[in-house]
Amino acid sequence: MHIYILTIFPEMFVSPFSCGLFQKALDKGVMKVDIRNIRDYTHDKHHTTDDSPYGGGAGMVMKPEPIFEAVEAIKAELTETGTAKNIPIILLTPQGRLLTQQVAKQLTQHDKIIFICGEYEGVDERVREHLVTDEISIGDYVLSGGELAAMIVVNTMVRLLPGFLGSPESLISESHMDGLLEYPQYTRPPEFRNWAVPEVLLSGNHAQIAKWRENQSIIRTKQRRPDMIERAS
Ligand code: 6GU
Repeated sequence: MHIYILTIFPEMFVSPFSCGLFQKALDKGVMKVDIRNIRDYTHDKHHTTDDSPYGGGAGMVMKPEPIFEAVEAIKAELTETGTAKNIPIILLTPQGRLLTQQVAKQLTQHDKIIFICGEYEGVDERVREHLVTDEISIGDYVLSGGELAAMIVVNTMVRLLPGFLGSPESLISESHMDGLLEYPQYTRPPEFRNWAVPEVLLSGNHAQIAKWRENQSIIRTKQRRPDMIERAS
């Protein structure tokens, strides 16, 4: 899977993408991430990417030209290999549809995706209307820019790709995968400061353990996320 990220802050992506399992995934070629600086697609001396809003008001708006040119440059590269068609162009914005595990899973069905990190007070509406194919938000709160959101979207995606996890089974039982929160986990020692690990987990009875875990998942989800229970299968 090949991901393109268009941003005016490419340096923000350096450390999140160079740690732990994520770095390993890039090294293994599970995912290829291409960070492009929108500023590189400007033509004026000051490399202007924003301007004041028509009609007045506070803040700045991202100009359409460099964003269109950056996307078109990527598409031109992909046309050479015949893979430019139907590539999703996704704007990260608090106005987008909410990111969920299901949305992340759907995104991994694509071979290539272009993400655009919106900035400031927003992006010229013509980018939305004539360039972007989808808009995603990571939650009902406002970030100063789409960069952190892009990292989160890409992180949820990379974990789902074949070759990322040592044992893909761990995906099956984790929170949100089946619409429930994960059951409590324990490791050694069996007793820590007088707090014992639930006996069933030490029993070796796999059927009983599975039953206990499922039960715990349901109890936990009911307590913490009753909204999820209504949607769970
Ligand atoms: Cl994708 N961008 C910004 N700027 N704020 C957000 C967001 C995205 N998702 C939630 N808040």
